[in-house]
Amino acid sequence: ATMAAGAVKVHDHWSSRMGFIIAAVGSAVGLGNIWKFPYMVGQSGGAAFVLVYLACIALIGLPIIVAEWLIGRRGQKNPVNTMVELAKKNGRSRNWALLGIGGTLAAFLILSFYSVIGGWAVSYLVEAGTGSFSGIDKDAAGALFNGLLADPAKLLLWHSVFMALTIGVVAMGVSGGLERATKILMPALGVILLIMVGYGMTTGSFGAAASYLFTPDWSKLNSGVVLAALGHAFFTLSLGMGVMIAYGSYLGQDINLLRAARTVAISDTVIALGAGMAIFPIVFANGLDPAAGPGLVFVTLPLAFGKISGGLILGVMFFALLIFAALTSSISLLEPAVELLEERTPLGRVGATVVAGLATWALGIAALLSFNEWSNVLIFGQNIFDLLDKLTSKFMLPLCGLGAIVFVAWCLDRESVRKDLGLGTTGFRLWNLLARYVAPIGVLAVFWNSL
Ligand code: PHE
Ligand code: NA
Repeated sequence: ATMAAGAVKVHDHWSSRMGFIIAAVGSAVGLGNIWKFPYMVGQSGGAAFVLVYLACIALIGLPIIVAEWLIGRRGQKNPVNTMVELAKKNGRSRNWALLGIGGTLAAFLILSFYSVIGGWAVSYLVEAGTGSFSGIDKDAAGALFNGLLADPAKLLLWHSVFMALTIGVVAMGVSGGLERATKILMPALGVILLIMVGYGMTTGSFGAAASYLFTPDWSKLNSGVVLAALGHAFFTLSLGMGVMIAYGSYLGQDINLLRAARTVAISDTVIALGAGMAIFPIVFANGLDPAAGPGLVFVTLPLAFGKISGGLILGVMFFALLIFAALTSSISLLEPAVELLEERTPLGRVGATVVAGLATWALGIAALLSFNEWSNVLIFGQNIFDLLDKLTSKFMLPLCGLGAIVFVAWCLDRESVRKDLGLGTTGFRLWNLLARYVAPIGVLAVFWNSL
């Protein structure tokens, strides 16, 4: 080949490989890291949860990311058709399609409430830009947040804005520009978090926050906490919902799945721990309740933005980047349903996106009403928002993720899996130990204990 042709080829490969990793990191890093992780830590009592969560990421999450990509890369189709085909090819039951169906449904359910929280971030971008945080104290910060929750019209407006953005991006398929933006904006989010961690060091409560996050009080550990940690590991890595299977379907053979999975898991974990280290010093310095729940980030960070110099700009940048990070996740949540509608109905790409998006938007309205008008509507003792969250994180995601790892570890030809992973004998032994035993038994044990 000529030099020129060689150069083009190499560049193409590099850019598609990068593009894939960037999209996967974009899907993983989102509200789960910055909004959900800190409040779950607070509700679960701190470091014991964090350490179990880290173990779940490393021992269960990592092998399952790899398994989902491997499935997707072999199938090259939407998650449902991919599972049907792979099961058939390997002489397994057609029922494996349930994995794709359950995952697609989970993604749809998650997006409905994810978009409501994305809406909170949009609302806070406006508050930050109009100077609402300047000189704010903890009571005013609490009132600001509670005022938002109590106002269904406002929640609906911002939820609609966030969902419209998601639908717009998915329908127009502007993924190229999104990739380029992600490459710049994700690190920018990391930098702002770092600045906020720096601010935390000036509050005098940094040490308290660090020991809260990393010095475990094992008496806080119970089966509920472990299940929460496991569920969040799935949520934060975008596992168990067909998203990573769908992303894997665009992959060529040249990518090293294990290395890519490591990159995704590390980026995701760094951002989550960074968010924790940014938020808990503010919590302790202001005597706030770590167990306050889903509002935690939204009542703590404004206190910091209201005090530091340049806080207005920092606040605007922070919430803008949070919205961006949420969007790179929400588009991946809409994708499985869109793909399915596109391939199984006469709807085209745009039609499928609008239909799936509007259905999600409508369910989101039920979720946002559970903070006000419908706060008394309880199903299994949970309001609709909590029900959607718990049903997916603690039930559907772990089960579908378990299915993926069991399928790859037990139902596919072993030698071909070894080749797909590019592993030697020893590495493959380790993989088998994790994929056949540690990960599935871990998930089952957590389930068993929490029943
Ligand atoms: N992983 C995303 C987050 O942490 C949420 C998400 C879940 C995205 C599932 C896609 C699929 O915010
Ligand atoms: Na995440």
